[in-house]
Amino acid sequence: AGLTQCKKSGGGDANTIVVGEVAALSGGTATFGQSSHAGTQMAVDEINASGGLLGKKVTLITEDDQSKQGEAGTVAKKLISREKIVALLGEVASGRSLEMAPICQKEGVPMISPASTNPKVTEVGDHIFRVCFIDPFQGTVMAKFALARGWKKVAVMTDVKQDYSVGLSQYFKEYFTKNGGTIVGDQSYSSGDKDFKAQLTKLKEGAPDAILASGYYNETGLIAVQCRELGISAPLLGGDGWDSPSLVEVAGKAIEGSFFSNHFSAEDKAPIIQNFITKYKEKNDGKTPDAMAALGYDSMMILGAAIKKAGTTEGKALRDAIATTKDHAGITGVISLDEKRNANKPAVILTIKDGNFVYVETVAP
Ligand code: PHE
Repeated sequence: AGLTQCKKSGGGDANTIVVGEVAALSGGTATFGQSSHAGTQMAVDEINASGGLLGKKVTLITEDDQSKQGEAGTVAKKLISREKIVALLGEVASGRSLEMAPICQKEGVPMISPASTNPKVTEVGDHIFRVCFIDPFQGTVMAKFALARGWKKVAVMTDVKQDYSVGLSQYFKEYFTKNGGTIVGDQSYSSGDKDFKAQLTKLKEGAPDAILASGYYNETGLIAVQCRELGISAPLLGGDGWDSPSLVEVAGKAIEGSFFSNHFSAEDKAPIIQNFITKYKEKNDGKTPDAMAALGYDSMMILGAAIKKAGTTEGKALRDAIATTKDHAGITGVISLDEKRNANKPAVILTIKDGNFVYVETVAP
């Protein structure tokens, strides 16, 4: 755009639509942001390659919140006030989305979280959406799975610094205990902790059949290693927060034979998934996309479809268009947003075998 066209109103100039993204590109959950950003950027590039939206190109402006609570809100405000973004994509971690959501709601800027699964995120208000399932479902999926395997005694490790982990543990326990299971130990830790031996020693006393580790990949990897060091051989169970190549790098053999629920399996032979994987690998040095990459892509494609449908990027009209998203063929499944602005989609359960994430089963809502 020429210098005369740089007046910003409602996002971008006469030739561009500016979309904001907040992602953890560094810090304790860096693979979440790196992957979701790569997926989101891929969607932007595809939209622009096929003519853009409303006759304009889409520009994605990404801010790194360094995986820090506190920083997500700060950079979200900056994107809204300085860049005049038409919508905000992000965050992955529920705690950080919960910080951004009230800001977007107040400013009338639609926000779509690709991957935050805590129910509270979209409860913030009618401008806040997500393209993934929520934790009452994910917790139930893993509790049912444990019961089906005959694991009636489960111990729990919760990251009290993460709304995601707190919620997932709670929903797991609710379903599990209502349906014949017993919680034989319940311990907690804080993001960034490195030594879990005291808590795990207590959990060992309950002789659990399995241990729910409801936090993110770094701490989970260390928990797995320290379980084995303490002679605990029970498998670990977890949710989507495990999905990172770093899990296996940290845990090595200790995480073999454990299980977690996720949004996507790279082993799925559906053409839409395999095409996505091929294109993603071409753009990202041969890296296989994880769930956040697929969800990031889906979040931008849903935003793009809504901008087209609304015929404008004005906040209220765009909000209304996102809210009516129906049967969108996403990489992570068919996405329809319900009246609570959540997506109801199946989960997949994966296990770790020879250092790889291996598909076990799909669980419908
Ligand atoms: N669901 C997690 C949260 O809400 C984030 C996450 C999504 C992590 C997908 C990995 C994969 O905090």
